[in-house]
Amino acid sequence: MRVIALLAAISLAQIAVANIVNKACNKNPSTCACTTLSTALPGRVHFPNSTEYEISNQYWSNRQAEIHPTCFITPNSTTDVSVILKTLTRLSAPFTVKSGGHTAFAGSNLVDGITIDLRLLTSITVSPDRRTVYVGAGNRWINISTALDPLGLAVVGGRVSDPGVGGLILGGGISYFSGRRGWACDNVRSYEIVLASGAIVTASPTSHRDLYWSLRGGAGTNFGIVTRFDLVAFEQPTPLWSGSLLFPGSINTTLLPLYQNLTVTGLPSDPDAHTYLTSIFLPSLGGYILLTDQYHATPPSLSDPSLTPQVFRPIASLPDPISHTTRLANLSTLLTAIDQPYGARQTWWNTAVRATSPSLLLDILSLHEAHVTRLLAVANGSGSDTITPFLTFQPIPVNVLQAMQTNGGNALGLEPADGPLMIIQSATTWTDKEIDGAVEASTQKFIDAVNDLARKRGLDNGFVYMNYAGKGQDVFGSYGRGSRERLRRVAREYDPLGELRRLWRGYFKLW
Ligand SMILES: Cc1cc2nc3c(=O)[nH]c(=O)nc-3n(C[C@H](O)[C@H](O)[C@H](O)COP(=O)(O)OP(=O)(O)OC[C@H]3O[C@@H](n4cnc5c(N)ncnc54)[C@H](O)[C@@H]3O)c2cc1C
Ligand SMILES: *[C@@H]1O[C@H](CO)[C@@H](O)[C@H](O)[C@H]1NC(C)=O
Ligand SMILES: *[C@@H]1O[C@H](CO)[C@@H](O)[C@H](O)[C@H]1NC(C)=O
Ligand SMILES: *[C@@H]1O[C@H](CO)[C@@H](O)[C@H](O)[C@H]1NC(C)=O
Ligand SMILES: *[C@@H]1O[C@H](CO)[C@@H](O)[C@H](O)[C@H]1NC(C)=O
Ligand SMILES: *[C@@H]1O[C@H](CO)[C@@H](O)[C@H](O)[C@H]1NC(C)=O
Ligand SMILES: *[C@@H]1O[C@H](CO)[C@@H](O)[C@H](O)[C@H]1NC(C)=O
Ligand SMILES: *[C@@H]1O[C@H](CO)[C@@H](O)[C@H](O)[C@H]1NC(C)=O
Repeated sequence: MRVIALLAAISLAQIAVANIVNKACNKNPSTCACTTLSTALPGRVHFPNSTEYEISNQYWSNRQAEIHPTCFITPNSTTDVSVILKTLTRLSAPFTVKSGGHTAFAGSNLVDGITIDLRLLTSITVSPDRRTVYVGAGNRWINISTALDPLGLAVVGGRVSDPGVGGLILGGGISYFSGRRGWACDNVRSYEIVLASGAIVTASPTSHRDLYWSLRGGAGTNFGIVTRFDLVAFEQPTPLWSGSLLFPGSINTTLLPLYQNLTVTGLPSDPDAHTYLTSIFLPSLGGYILLTDQYHATPPSLSDPSLTPQVFRPIASLPDPISHTTRLANLSTLLTAIDQPYGARQTWWNTAVRATSPSLLLDILSLHEAHVTRLLAVANGSGSDTITPFLTFQPIPVNVLQAMQTNGGNALGLEPADGPLMIIQSATTWTDKEIDGAVEASTQKFIDAVNDLARKRGLDNGFVYMNYAGKGQDVFGSYGRGSRERLRRVAREYDPLGELRRLWRGYFKLW
């Protein structure tokens, strides 16, 4: 009798506890999921004000760093990620994922939700035949180059040390080596990914082919959390050559036509060459300046850095640069040289136009001047101390478009016949939260004006590169109907209940 009463009491207590948990879960799924996972994965859940929480809450853009999620979860294995996804979907808890945290808007941190920080997934292993590097999804590019430089190996990856491998590869990935090999996403042998169901799957050209194609530019958001990238490694026995040229903005009428020609004829003739060009408004240097960085994977001389590769000579011989530096350096040195500091607010937007017209590029520069004038007025009005607008011309020459077609192609929807293209990237750095809305509105106006002008001239393309995109931009729409519909089909297959669509917040989605 007594035993039965005791059992009854225990099960009543259990039901009561379960009810409390369920109520807490219905009322606040985030808190409930954090608590549940702190029991399931001891030491992996971090609440506000803990040291581990503060470490995870470091982001390049203050628009992310100012956000404080209910908890950070730091999985230490693929199995941990599986447990986490199963729990979050069961409890309907909203989440997002952080690799290097370099999104300008709040794309990898979450208010009232859970941020899964992959920072413990830092394994880097080179295969015995030196043809593959297995890379954990929480690595930064500097960690990859630090491991590979001494071996004389390289991968198609980021050009700056601190961004993460996760966001960069899943959105595309423009690299110093892209001229010969395409973007980072075109050089992944296979992806280890945890699906919404918690299942762990390997996607490659021979296994889960549709998923493999989708992860080449289709983002993780719609398919799952990638835990490991198996990257194509190649021999890079020499340092890279790099040149940096700084000019007064007034040279634009000479420099931009040369740059347009470099994109159309120079770069395709020399797939080891890489470059971009940036216009910056910097009152401290007297107004606009034009900065162009050039890179080459097979230097013309290993003893004389001043020997400029043939393809860059027309630009290097322009008169009167403010500064002109050249060097031979390993990848780690180059990645660190152009690091961007933390601690400011950021926005990035972009579109692409055909690169066949020098006058279009000059007119885009004028449209950007109008944008800068608007920004200065806004910043001045708010008494904000600093605002720095950048406009970057990033060539996508035809050789890159051709290299993208390997192994069944990628999801970006770009064909060699679309090219050569120029990505028009607007980036702004500022400090005052009050002007966020005005900065975004002016940037949108600039991008719309670029697209309108290009369309009028029959030179429009409209591809939006995810890794440079503003929050409201229609990235997947810009891939074209065929690509987007195929991505949706694959997403339905791998997330049949739409759990990721429902719960993954903050980044680009197919619906
Ligand atoms: C200083 C700087 C330099 C840059 N240089 C380059 C460059 O050389 N080439 C280039 O192409 N781009 C470059 N970018 C752009 C960069 O590719 C994007 O900002 C990219 O999103 C950064 O990746 P991350 O992992 O640091 O970002 P995060 O903000 O951590 O991630 C971006 C998004 O991807 C998702 N995600 C991240 N990891 C995973 C994963 N493992 N599985 C599923 N989803 C995931 C996240 O949910 C998040 O929404 C640069 C950006 C900055 C700020
Ligand atoms: C704890 O964290 C919250 C949210 O991040 C913050 O508002 C508060 O000031 C912190 N408290 C302490 C003692 O650090
Ligand atoms: C993560 O796992 C590795 C072994 O796989 C272990 O050496 C390491 O200490 C773990 N890290 C944490 C923070 O638990
Ligand atoms: C990655 O590189 C940075 C900078 O060199 C270093 O501080 C950090 O410890 C490295 N991380 C790992 C996991 O090795
Ligand atoms: C890169 O080159 C610098 C300067 O020559 C050197 O100090 C550094 O050790 C090299 N880094 C790696 C990872 O090999
Ligand atoms: C472009 O050059 C012209 C003529 O030198 C100059 O007036 C204009 O300010 C320049 N524009 C920019 C953005 O540098
Ligand atoms: C364009 O560049 C090619 C070399 O790539 C050169 O031969 C040609 O003269 C250049 N044309 C113009 C108009 O500058
Ligand atoms: C800033 O505003 C002040 C007062 O409105 C004005 O005098 C000044 O010219 C403005 N400066 C700029 C750079 O717009």
